[in-house]
Amino acid sequence: MCGIVGYIGDNEKKEFLLNGLKELEYRGYDSAGIAVLKDGHISSYRALGKLENLVHKTASFSSDGFGLGMGHTRWATHGKPTEVNAHPHRGEFSYVIHNGIIENYKEIKENLQADGITFLSQTDSEVIVHKFEKFIREGLNAQEAFKSTINMLQGAYAILLITKDEPETIFFAKNAVPLILGQNANGEKFMSSSDSPLIGYATEVVYLEDGEYGWIKKDEISLFIDESPIIPIFQTLGRDKIYAQKDGFRFFMEKEIYEQSTVVSETLMGRVNDENIELDELKEIDFSNIDSIKICACGTSYHSGLAATYLFERLSKIRCSIEIASEFRYKKPLLDKRTLFIVISQSGETADTLEALKMAKKAGMQTLAICNVDNSSIVRLSNATLLTRAGIEKGVASTKAFATQMVTLWLLALYLGQHRKTINNETMQNEIKALLHTPSVLHVNDNTHEKIRRLSKRYLHGHGFFFIGRDIFFPLALEGALKLKEISYLHAEGYPSGEMKHGPIALADSELFTVALMPQNMLYDKTKSNVEELSARDATILVISPKEFDLADDFIKTSNQSHPMNEFFEMMIITQIFALEIAVRLGNDVDMPRNLAKSVTVE
Ligand code: F6R
Repeated sequence: MCGIVGYIGDNEKKEFLLNGLKELEYRGYDSAGIAVLKDGHISSYRALGKLENLVHKTASFSSDGFGLGMGHTRWATHGKPTEVNAHPHRGEFSYVIHNGIIENYKEIKENLQADGITFLSQTDSEVIVHKFEKFIREGLNAQEAFKSTINMLQGAYAILLITKDEPETIFFAKNAVPLILGQNANGEKFMSSSDSPLIGYATEVVYLEDGEYGWIKKDEISLFIDESPIIPIFQTLGRDKIYAQKDGFRFFMEKEIYEQSTVVSETLMGRVNDENIELDELKEIDFSNIDSIKICACGTSYHSGLAATYLFERLSKIRCSIEIASEFRYKKPLLDKRTLFIVISQSGETADTLEALKMAKKAGMQTLAICNVDNSSIVRLSNATLLTRAGIEKGVASTKAFATQMVTLWLLALYLGQHRKTINNETMQNEIKALLHTPSVLHVNDNTHEKIRRLSKRYLHGHGFFFIGRDIFFPLALEGALKLKEISYLHAEGYPSGEMKHGPIALADSELFTVALMPQNMLYDKTKSNVEELSARDATILVISPKEFDLADDFIKTSNQSHPMNEFFEMMIITQIFALEIAVRLGNDVDMPRNLAKSVTVE
């Protein structure tokens, strides 16, 4: 996810901006840039790749004495990672940096282009600076022009804008993406997308709320919401950087679990409208030549792919199968050019998945990557890519990458259904409603977290866990078991509920823990009978369901959702927190579990 820093004051601006961007490196980025306004002149530098490249480019630049500046690290969403697409973006006399996604950028861009404005980048962000300057040319002052620009934007944003028209001011706005203002006793003002760049510089901060915007000068902060001025409430800033990078959470994994609502909003942004799914990224794929799908992936990505096989067959009415990439590679598979080959990978560098992709390419198949890292090996090799937009995932145990993969695959199944005319209007409306409801389902409920924390103490031993579920809840059971074993080191397996009686039930006794996923919208009664069979053998049962269940030893109640995918995401969060709390009680290193690596680049 992109990072933002800003500064107003007398000190060397480059130093704060580059140090600040360094602190934001952990969020992931593919390019970086700064712009400094001093004595009525704006100097701007951008570089692709590591920050070192920007440091190198700005080596002979200095900016001591009063002035202002802003810096940005970009994680590509619209437009490839290139220097031209890096921020700041410039107009004639102003520069902008932006985190998030402007959903209605196409419409704004077309209007501006019709007025003769030339765009230099492929980004959505560039519209902001041109729209702002257009308002100025039409006679508005900079404050009015900024306000009018913000009013036009739909989507998620944290924005900083500087202009020669107001050389002592930084304009800012925030919606659904974090932005913090800071200050110190020397009269310096700071802006940042997270606490960590501010530590050691600002002494107090204000965390902006959605919809807030305004402008900052050396001696003044003007803050508004809905056109009404508000007084910023500052609070003292802590001094622990790692703590700040974790936004106050105990572990990156925990932070990433809590981030899922926000990142899934980003996954959806610009891809869903009231009536259909728009996936512009798929232009390169000729769907008229496709009559089946083969998915290949490893680990958690395999689990999202397995869940997607149900969605593709049910919604898009297309044959779909999945294989674990390391198995696929050596089985001498029969490859058919009319099969779309989909690879799923968080990192885009997993060796087995990459090799499977190469085999498909060699066989002349059309290939599509579902990936979190633009410009990764898998993205570069595929014919088309749908980026999952989860931002960098630091916890080794994957959480938000899985959630965003699931949403991307669900979007793809609907898109294909639309294309193949296999989904009627009513179903499409229903699916879109459920898709757009997903970010709110992904908000972690504090009471549920606390309940899981308390009951986790009863699950620190035993001779194993079985996570069970049916249909898409079977891959979720596999994923729940994988999370638990990765960070707790306890033995856990995922099983289809209906398979337990074909062997595994022999293990059932009071020391066998069964985590039963019992959604109300997907084969509830069938799963219930399977759980009853286990209960009759005295297995200890933890039920996750919206419906009370008498035979459960422990029960986590989910909310009353009307779509199975919404139940899926709510149960996903519960299984993630369950694994986390057990690992914490066992004293394990949650973010870096033993024997595991984040990116598996060897076979
Ligand atoms: C589990 C986990 C791994 C990865 C697997 C594939 O929490 O992170 O199972 O899912 O190594 O990695 P990617 O998705 O990067 O190809």
